[in-house]
Amino acid sequence: MNEGKIEKKIFITGASSGIGKSLAKYYAQQKAFLGLAARRVDLLNVVADECRRSGSKVYVFQIDVRRSDDCAQAAREFIGLAGGIDIVIANSGVGGDDKLLSGNSEQINNILSTNLLGVTNTIYPFIPTLIKQRSGTIVGISSVAGFLSVPTHGGYAASKVAMRRMFDSWRITMEDDGIRLVTICPGFIDTPMTEKLRSTPFIKSLEEATPAFAKAIKKGVPTFIYPWQMRWLIKLVNILPRSLVDLIISRMKAAS
Ligand SMILES: NC(=O)c1ccc[n+]([C@@H]2O[C@H](COP(=O)([O-])OP(=O)(O)OC[C@H]3O[C@@H](n4cnc5c(N)ncnc54)[C@H](OP(=O)(O)O)[C@@H]3O)[C@@H](O)[C@H]2O)c1
Repeated sequence: MNEGKIEKKIFITGASSGIGKSLAKYYAQQKAFLGLAARRVDLLNVVADECRRSGSKVYVFQIDVRRSDDCAQAAREFIGLAGGIDIVIANSGVGGDDKLLSGNSEQINNILSTNLLGVTNTIYPFIPTLIKQRSGTIVGISSVAGFLSVPTHGGYAASKVAMRRMFDSWRITMEDDGIRLVTICPGFIDTPMTEKLRSTPFIKSLEEATPAFAKAIKKGVPTFIYPWQMRWLIKLVNILPRSLVDLIISRMKAAS
């Protein structure tokens, strides 16, 4: 293990895969005190071992973000071990179809519960400590989907809009407490979640996306849309009439 001063205390949900795992490995290079959380503890342990080899101190937390008790206990333990928190990243999330015609709300409710209540469950237990410290950054991994009407994925898009709106509100609520709120809105990033979308235009690798996300977190960018092509797409969507945008999306759906 490389010796050196431990820098930031960082807690990441969804660190067993994709963006969360990649952020964990990125921060591990900077000798962080890491809390890695998700359900698949076997995968978390593999990520943790890799991070430890970079000289970071790493603790693994098996949690289901839909369960507030799991999250509260993990936050308590992490704060106890690390002596505080610098960055909490609510990254856990699931994609999926609304299954609108199925007559069964189970799938959409799971998406809403994981992606929205999972965020409040993750973040709330850290807030009293952040306020007491008068420092720290709360990060939410939202999505470009939160700016568009995505057919068949209304639950996913809604969860990501709601997260962004909560962060917009909390940013103002906590602005005098020294707490920064960062909403990351990725377009398509090559992870297990997008494995069937590899040929999507503007898809970015984790190697490209992760340093960009970390830079936005460090600077405290309020809403970071990535990559730049998606920023322009959203600007365009905001100026065009809503009926025209919906027509274009509907034509694209018919052609796919
Ligand atoms: N990839 C993209 O293009 C893209 C674009 C925009 C936004 N995002 C967002 O980025 C985040 C990460 O996605 P990804 O692409 O990295 O997908 P991923 O590789 O499928 O990773 C999802 C992570 O979420 C965790 N997770 C899911 N349900 C959970 C639960 N109930 N409790 C705890 N952890 C749970 C998974 O861990 P376990 O299964 O081990 O629990 C996994 O670590 C998500 O919020 C996603 O919506 C992704």
